[in-house]
Amino acid sequence: MKKKEVQNYESLVNATRKIVDRGDTSREHKLQRICELLAENVEAFDWVGFYLVDPDADRELVLGPYVGEETDHTRIPFGKGICGQAAETNETFVVQDVSKEDNYLACSVHVKAEIVVPVKKDGEFVAELDIDSHTKDSMTDDHREMLERICETVASLF
Ligand code: SME
Repeated sequence: MKKKEVQNYESLVNATRKIVDRGDTSREHKLQRICELLAENVEAFDWVGFYLVDPDADRELVLGPYVGEETDHTRIPFGKGICGQAAETNETFVVQDVSKEDNYLACSVHVKAEIVVPVKKDGEFVAELDIDSHTKDSMTDDHREMLERICETVASLF
């Protein structure tokens, strides 16, 4: 079934803020709710998940809450794949056609485009929001702006 696209991304930013500000639940549960919110409301978003810096490892990401197909990539070293590269640069990484990206870790044959947005706590990279789409060229500037604002809000959970 086709998802109903939310035209007003402001409402998703506000909904995220509400989830983050809830006092009665864990960080993990809040991150899960944010994944669900994005996956349910944005047509292009087919896999939505957080990778967190593992404090007990040397420059390695560990998979956190997500929505979508199961992935083999539960741990990703900094520098590897789109996720690992974003971790290294601490900057948003948009790939509109994953077949053109050499340093890429395939999760599913269906994935065509990907965006990774860092979560920065006082400027330091602590986690990232990773989103896959089954549609090439589907990541817009509006998506990017919305996701960067969402990740600014999420930073307060770290
Ligand atoms: N494609 C990512 C790996 C994570 S999955 O998309 C869930 C990458 O190249 O880093």
